[in-house]
Amino acid sequence: MQVTITRRMTFSAGHRIFNENWDDARNFEIFGPCSNPHGHGHNYALEISVTGPVDSETGMVINLKDMKSIIQEEIIDKVDHKSLNADVPFMKGINPTTENLAHKIWEILSKKLPGMSRLVLHESENNKVEINR
Ligand code: NI
Repeated sequence: MQVTITRRMTFSAGHRIFNENWDDARNFEIFGPCSNPHGHGHNYALEISVTGPVDSETGMVINLKDMKSIIQEEIIDKVDHKSLNADVPFMKGINPTTENLAHKIWEILSKKLPGMSRLVLHESENNKVEINR
């Protein structure tokens, strides 16, 4: 039987959504106030799920302690209280929409968590992006 376990972690980060190939008017038309030149912040919540069999010795799919430290070191420490446009190497040159951020986080974490089956990135109470294996 396959079981899915999920760890939720939060971080705060700033961003400016814009396409550098467009002028300010075109950016404002498409992205609205999200393209304001000096950016704005969000309190994000990240949910990472791992699916697999339950180990008969530990009773676990994966040790949540290990999962927590991988997500903390690979993602949270790099994005928390940072500008996604200016301070985060893995987002360099990428428009920091929730979709693009989720995609990069998937690329990084799925290499470290082989059974990773789902990622949900909440940008706000009302907006979230989901990637499934
Ligand atoms: Ni935003």
